[in-house]
Amino acid sequence: MTTEQRDKAFVWHPFTPDQPWRNPDYRTPVIVRGEGPYLWDEEGNRYWDGNSSIWTNVHGHRHPRLVAAIRDQLERIDHVSFLGLSHPWAAELAEKLSAITAGDRGPAYRTFFSDDGATAIEAAVKIVWQYFQQNGQPQRDLFLSLAESYHGDTVGAMSVAQSRFHRLFGPLRFPSLSIQAPACYRCSFNRAAAGSRDARQGRRGSWECLRVLEEALDRHGHRLAALLIEPKVQAAAGMWMHPDGYLRELDRLCRERGIFWIADEVFTGFGRLGRWFGCEREGVFPDLICLAKGLTGGMTPLAATLVREEIYAGFTGEKGRALLHGHSYTANPIGCAAALASLAVFEEEGVFERIARRAEALSGLSERFWQHPHVGDVRQEGLVLAVELVERRADRSPFPAAREAGFRVCERARAHGLLTRPVGDVLVLVPPFCASADDLAGMVGALEQALWEELP
Ligand SMILES: Cc1ncc(COP(=O)(O)O)c(C=O)c1O
Repeated sequence: MTTEQRDKAFVWHPFTPDQPWRNPDYRTPVIVRGEGPYLWDEEGNRYWDGNSSIWTNVHGHRHPRLVAAIRDQLERIDHVSFLGLSHPWAAELAEKLSAITAGDRGPAYRTFFSDDGATAIEAAVKIVWQYFQQNGQPQRDLFLSLAESYHGDTVGAMSVAQSRFHRLFGPLRFPSLSIQAPACYRCSFNRAAAGSRDARQGRRGSWECLRVLEEALDRHGHRLAALLIEPKVQAAAGMWMHPDGYLRELDRLCRERGIFWIADEVFTGFGRLGRWFGCEREGVFPDLICLAKGLTGGMTPLAATLVREEIYAGFTGEKGRALLHGHSYTANPIGCAAALASLAVFEEEGVFERIARRAEALSGLSERFWQHPHVGDVRQEGLVLAVELVERRADRSPFPAAREAGFRVCERARAHGLLTRPVGDVLVLVPPFCASADDLAGMVGALEQALWEELP
């Protein structure tokens, strides 16, 4: 049996319809090697990893420092329970995370470790819930999030999100509230001319989205436990990018009303938007911060929920006040060692300067997409590029879902050496930071070529 046959017989993949696979001509790329921004399949074909292996692999594959850190860690200890025990790598990592999120510029943060983005969110939700239950405000029992927000696929994370991927599971989710997202291209208040290159111009001087937020906070404030937000970019919604200033105002409105807010930096964290974190772009310090994906440079699963020290204080004292939550692999030492090495790479290898240069190059390259008549919007923040396909640019009308325009373009891009995955009809490039200027040009070129071939 080949790997592909074995896979088709025994494996179940996430978010992967089996229908194209039933076509005997459809070849599943079987990836056997990775190096920097490249992946190779078992037939020796080389691809650019255009979405950084589902947005995790920030430094590229097998960065030597990360590989060495993991090898070294394996010589000492593989795993140890974190229930009542500690180890140096978790303690050092927690200290570093507190330093890079706020340092002496903001509040002290304490870290709760888990495994994935969804578990970082679950932990945040339960921490907030338990905090209010045992600190005299049990009426605060509601969470608020933005339309089409996505925070992971566990039941708790689904409950506090509003993603189209979760509608089927409605009855399983506990009740939560949602408001319109400040996503200018699809905003009902957007007054930018249809077909305008600057869908975000509708945001300038007009803040209907903030009024919507303020009204929700005023109406439900007494019952609200926390608001969740993906800062600056809602990734799984289709790389919806928020106007500058929205997050700062959100912080002010929540703080005035004593409502916690949780930043889901699972996608935006660790350099993706040009800084350590999306929140840093607006100089705000959330009450809780959820991290995963790029935390270990994409090498191993590890997640972190950072919590302001004053919230942690609500769990100290009598024994019965301890947090009632945990996972077997909490603070796995191999993951912590990889994360420490990844942070050192950021600090010592000029990664942020490189991201700035590459982001500028990407911005120039992406101009070409406007020449295609089915491109409705081209958006970019840092090293995130989104190209939204529409049937008609003039009125922003989408293609029928059955057309699978985004999926088909990305399938074609594979033949040009690019692996990436769309979000619906939004083409996405999320390259590893090690990609050279030539790599970026190659990725954009492959996507552009695929676009013209699929939608001539
Ligand atoms: C913003 C955001 N939060 C949470 C998650 C869930 O992370 P994971 O897939 O590691 O559970 C994702 C995944 O894409 C994400 O983009």
